[in-house]
Amino acid sequence: MPLCAAIPVCYICLMIAHRFSAVIVISGRGSNMKRLIETQDGYCVSGVASNRSAAPGLAIAQGHDIPIFSAAQKPELWDWIASKAPDLVLLAGYMQIVAPETIAKFPRKIINIHPALLPALPGLDTHGRALREGHKRHGVTVHIVDCGVDTGEIIAQAGLDIETNETEESLAARVLALEHQLYPWVVSNIAKGEISLSPTVTFSAAARNDATQRGFLLP
Ligand code: GRF
Repeated sequence: MPLCAAIPVCYICLMIAHRFSAVIVISGRGSNMKRLIETQDGYCVSGVASNRSAAPGLAIAQGHDIPIFSAAQKPELWDWIASKAPDLVLLAGYMQIVAPETIAKFPRKIINIHPALLPALPGLDTHGRALREGHKRHGVTVHIVDCGVDTGEIIAQAGLDIETNETEESLAARVLALEHQLYPWVVSNIAKGEISLSPTVTFSAAARNDATQRGFLLP
């Protein structure tokens, strides 16, 4: 009997139809998570995890029939994420440092969105600091997570000019709108093979053209 005849049809389908999957990790409201779930272009969201059981984003994910999990303890949280065998882990407002041993378990597969134009303004309070320090440009960065705080390799950025009468609230709202465009774009392009993360971050010509048209900045 030929080998293929011995393999059940449904198993063949599963092997052929590998769906690129992502688990999203949040700590709070989950607006980036929501946008990633609504997009699911080329990828599927196979779970949402949070270190806070009260994170409002969890209920939103549940409303989309996405499996959710919360645990204050990091080993439990990351064991659940690993159980989903995701192609990518998407940090979206996850307010904890990822341990080096966890990063080693998901090499170049954990990415984060940070509300500033890295390497400027790593850490917290990016909008307030941008205003107080008199920055002229501000924006958002999607990057690979490494062992530092917001130091990982940059995948893509979107920027804006800070206006004269800008307040922290107006700036936060304008940056968030950019975040909601940039993060799903990056994930879709990784899922479709237009952006590679390993061994280095590289882009297809199509991804570069599309980024230029959308005003996104690539390294
Ligand atoms: C976003 O500004 C993101 O860049 C930062 O945390 C915030 C999360 O917002 N890492 P939300 O929970 O996605 O609405």
